[in-house]
Amino acid sequence: MIKFGLVGCGRIAKRHSELLGERKIHGAELTAVCDLVLEKAKKIGEKFSIPFYTDMHTMMTSSDIDVVVVLTESGNHAKNVVELAKYGKHIVVEKPMALTLDDADRMIAACDVSGSKLFVIKQNRFNVPVIKLREAIESDRFGKLILGTVRVRWCRPQDYYDQDSWRGTWALDGGVLTNQASHHVDLLEWMMGDVESVFAKSATALVDIEAEDTAVVTLKFKNGALGIIEATTAIRPKDLEGSLSVIGAEGVVEIAGFAVNEMKTWNFVKSQSGDSDVMKKYSVNPPNVYGFGHHAYYEHVVDCILNDKQHLVDGLVGRKSLELINAIYESIETGEEVFLKFNPKFCKLGGG
Ligand SMILES: NC(=O)c1ccc[n+]([C@@H]2O[C@H](COP(=O)([O-])OP(=O)(O)OC[C@H]3O[C@@H](n4cnc5c(N)ncnc54)[C@H](O)[C@@H]3O)[C@@H](O)[C@H]2O)c1
Repeated sequence: MIKFGLVGCGRIAKRHSELLGERKIHGAELTAVCDLVLEKAKKIGEKFSIPFYTDMHTMMTSSDIDVVVVLTESGNHAKNVVELAKYGKHIVVEKPMALTLDDADRMIAACDVSGSKLFVIKQNRFNVPVIKLREAIESDRFGKLILGTVRVRWCRPQDYYDQDSWRGTWALDGGVLTNQASHHVDLLEWMMGDVESVFAKSATALVDIEAEDTAVVTLKFKNGALGIIEATTAIRPKDLEGSLSVIGAEGVVEIAGFAVNEMKTWNFVKSQSGDSDVMKKYSVNPPNVYGFGHHAYYEHVVDCILNDKQHLVDGLVGRKSLELINAIYESIETGEEVFLKFNPKFCKLGGG
């Protein structure tokens, strides 16, 4: 059994603690939790009859833990991971891994020094239609890639942002691009390849927060393909869509639903056996926008640790996606096309 401990018992910890605490992940168990707020730690600790703490260092030295999972505010991930790395345990960190590239570098370096594997959660990579699309990309079924699009049309009203002071701030969260759409930004780059340049605009349309609730981005990929990101949390009255489409010279795939969960189009010039079943076989209906991916992600973590396999989203992969998000913000601030690699000068993420 691999023993997991959680740092942060807020909203997303419910999902993590249920998967681990209810033993839904083969080979994994939840052995301890902590939160700065005693009541939050206690609630999960008592639910699963495990020790709970208000200090992560006390948790690490008092409980038997193989993997520590960081579920704190995005802008605090780096300092938490760097401090936790000294215990030499493997580390899982929620998305986005950090807000600044310097922070991401510090996390990667700290885990390298301690020999810890660093897993960055991008659970949408494990959605069944997404895996199927990735297979088609890897087997070159699209031919020349032409256009990739992701669309996030979700509903986050003012009371969502008001529930915790860190939400929507530059220092600890960022806006729709860094928080809700960071999965989709990652998926687009994973499917389409390395990005050459981005041009972006944003707006804070319906809520009172520092960062944006709406953004549009055009991308040029190094392979010559183009891309579009449309991301907003200003959809009312409820979540509408989280989708991804890839258009190539020899085929088109669209994954729709509100959580990139439904195979909507699977058309290729050269058909293969099994194509006719793809539409019904590769769709799932998750209960919420987080999808089912955390389950598959944890199974991947356990597999990588037990069998010493390379993990799909390590620190460097997480950093790459963060670099793209930083470039998008740099373009928003400068009003100019930003070419990667670049050094952020105007991007506000992680700022005070
Ligand atoms: N993968 C996904 O789909 C997904 C979904 C939601 C949230 N997230 C990510 O998860 C993270 C947390 O989000 P949330 O909505 O649960 O936030 P939250 O505010 O509900 O929870 C964060 C918790 O961390 C605690 N905390 C902060 N510093 C701590 C420390 N040093 N020790 C112990 N506890 C500490 C806080 O007290 C708080 O209870 C964010 O980075 C967010 O982007 C990911």
